[in-house]
Amino acid sequence: MRNKKLIVTGFILTLLVWSCEYNVEDENLMTSQCEEEVSYSTTIRPLINSRCMPCHNGDGSEPFAPDLTTYNGVAGIASLVKEVTETGRMPKNGTLTDQEIEDIGCWVDAGAPEN
Ligand code: HEC
Repeated sequence: MRNKKLIVTGFILTLLVWSCEYNVEDENLMTSQCEEEVSYSTTIRPLINSRCMPCHNGDGSEPFAPDLTTYNGVAGIASLVKEVTETGRMPKNGTLTDQEIEDIGCWVDAGAPEN
């Protein structure tokens, strides 16, 4: 009787461990494009500084271009930033590399963290 309980408990534990591992694999599959965390300070900020300035510096010379000089300025319109870079509308004066577009997309999808 005691042995039987042990076996059943062991079986349930194995199932639990197995299902957890399975879930992790499942999640990785879904987010395969964004494997690595994208950092605002080391990736997104330098990218915006080099690719979106001077048009988005908020000095008024481009009145309809949202000010992207601060974290809040970018994070506040994060999904719009993702959209205009994915569709190629921005930057107005050129193109981003696939890697840069992906970095922005992944950062926005992660909730535009101040990391
Ligand atoms: C050569 C100048 C220039 C560059 C470089 C540039 N933009 Fe813009 N951007 C503008 C102007 C002007 C507008 C406002 C008029 C318009 O929407 O076309 C604008 C508008 C936007 C908008 C608002 C769009 C909307 O629908 O309201 C976003 C978001 C944006 N830019 C993001 C970016 C990002 C991100 C970059 C860099 C990857 C970038 N822009 C680079 C000039 C520029």
